[in-house]
Amino acid sequence: MPIQWFPGHMHAARRKLEETLADVDVLIEVLDARIPAASRNPVLEALRRSRQRPCLKLLNKADLADPVRTAEWIAAFEREEGVRALAVCAKNPADVRRILPACERLAPHRSEPTKPLRLMIAGIPNVGKSTLLNALIGRKAAKVGDEPAVTKSVQRYDLPGLRSITDTPGLMWPKIEFDADGYLLAACHAIGRNAVAEEEVAAFLAETLIAQGYADRLTARYRFDPTGMNGDEIIAAIGERRGCRRKGGELDREKAANILLQDFREGKLGPLTLETPASRAAMIAAHEAALLAETDDQPTRR
Ligand code: G4P
Repeated sequence: MPIQWFPGHMHAARRKLEETLADVDVLIEVLDARIPAASRNPVLEALRRSRQRPCLKLLNKADLADPVRTAEWIAAFEREEGVRALAVCAKNPADVRRILPACERLAPHRSEPTKPLRLMIAGIPNVGKSTLLNALIGRKAAKVGDEPAVTKSVQRYDLPGLRSITDTPGLMWPKIEFDADGYLLAACHAIGRNAVAEEEVAAFLAETLIAQGYADRLTARYRFDPTGMNGDEIIAAIGERRGCRRKGGELDREKAANILLQDFREGKLGPLTLETPASRAAMIAAHEAALLAETDDQPTRR
């Protein structure tokens, strides 16, 4: 079942974001380093391009991601016009200190007292925007929580050295184009729990781990060889290994699914990234080929 999640307040958030972007010099887009492309918001990207604003892409939660793949993504993003990218962990002060100088390099004309540098931080829910904002302004202004869409209004804060930063609510977009993205977003908890079936998400995650070459992580954590298993079978095997049983002795798949999701979200499977620029391109090509095949199958209308 494809996953869609666009709560009503996000329409208002989008309008507000559009207005705010007009008065901003650099957009700081926060991404989840484990899913750098799936966690991009195409609406934000379109707004930014139409306003011709440079963008610093922060691959946040880099501590949970595969460093080799993070480097690949940074190189891929930096091939885009007006884009610079940095891998950061919002909880690491040394990483946070690299952010403002990178923004300044993107807008060198905004360094005079009469032209203060105006930044805006945006991104989908739960990628770490509030954690980063608090670290940048040096105090707790934004509420941090591992539940999507905690920040709900736009707010501006002063930064040292005649700079300011505007915080925006976590913004999703009306239609997630690729089903795979919905699952990846749910696995990383960017989509609210009520929008997703955890068992399906966990099975997708298990298959993605195998496809991305991380079978050894499952073996190391749960002590079984997942070779040749599909996602459902992997969830069942985790349930068996962890003794997930309902009262009548039946396997508790939901519990097993939650063990995998929780372990992944907490980094207990080690640092890993669920998509690479190459796997992303292959996924999009397969999606387009399927659409084309569907169109070819339609009877010709007269
Ligand atoms: P948001 O504003 O984009 O919605 O995200 P928020 O800052 O609320 O962060 C969502 C969760 O992600 C929080 O977890 C936060 O601590 C965690 N987080 C943010 N940045 C990083 C990072 O670079 N690395 C890691 N590993 N986690 C990060 P939480 O469970 O609610 O809080 P806590 O238990 O960590 O305090």
